[in-house]
Amino acid sequence: MSVVEEVVAQFARPTGFWGNIAGFIMANRSSNLERNEWAISLLHLQPSDRVLEIGFGPGVTIQKMSEIVSHGLIWGIDHSDVMFRQASKRNQRAIAAGRVRLALTSVSQLPAFDGPFDKILDVNGFQFWDNQIEVLRQLREQLRAGGIIALVHQPRNLGATEDDATEAGERFAHYLEMAGFKDIKVERKTMKPVSTVYVQGRNPL
Ligand SMILES: C[S@@+](CC[C@H](N)C(=O)[O-])C[C@H]1O[C@@H](n2cnc3c(N)ncnc32)[C@H](O)[C@@H]1O
Repeated sequence: MSVVEEVVAQFARPTGFWGNIAGFIMANRSSNLERNEWAISLLHLQPSDRVLEIGFGPGVTIQKMSEIVSHGLIWGIDHSDVMFRQASKRNQRAIAAGRVRLALTSVSQLPAFDGPFDKILDVNGFQFWDNQIEVLRQLREQLRAGGIIALVHQPRNLGATEDDATEAGERFAHYLEMAGFKDIKVERKTMKPVSTVYVQGRNPL
């Protein structure tokens, strides 16, 4: 594998030396920061919210959300031990204060949470999940009635096009519908190298 291929392969589950490099890239690349900040802005976080981020990577978005959610709780899960370590270090003060909880686990094996969430967020991780619709159903059960889930995606494969972003938005919306979410909406942000889509569903129950 070439160096570029080594690094690209890391984004699904960063491990070892190259995983640390991938984490550094995710924490610093301007397109990563821009799409995550945009995602946070669309969530309309409230200080008392209970939020779950899936696939938190280096933990930058956990940190930013925890600055807004001053009286609530941010949970995060990621199946990469390298990302768990980076995110734990980046958020050590909020973790010590009990405002952030991180778990090293797959979205396919959800931990026992301590209550329902107002908001669930995934940024550029959904494409790596197994059994996507079934897992979305399980996540819906973790949301309070009226709670929302947001799947945010910027295609990052070599040669990604605007059509790829459109296709991802339509497919994610369909999956959310299949999993029982309502009031599906898709937003789009024009970005370099290619647009990001934000796909939101609401738990009606
Ligand atoms: C491309 S990175 C995105 C990280 C961060 N959300 C961002 O936008 O910078 C995808 C992250 O999702 C995690 N991930 C992928 N599949 C997962 C799964 N099934 N369960 C938990 N985490 C997963 C990876 O370990 C990685 O940290």
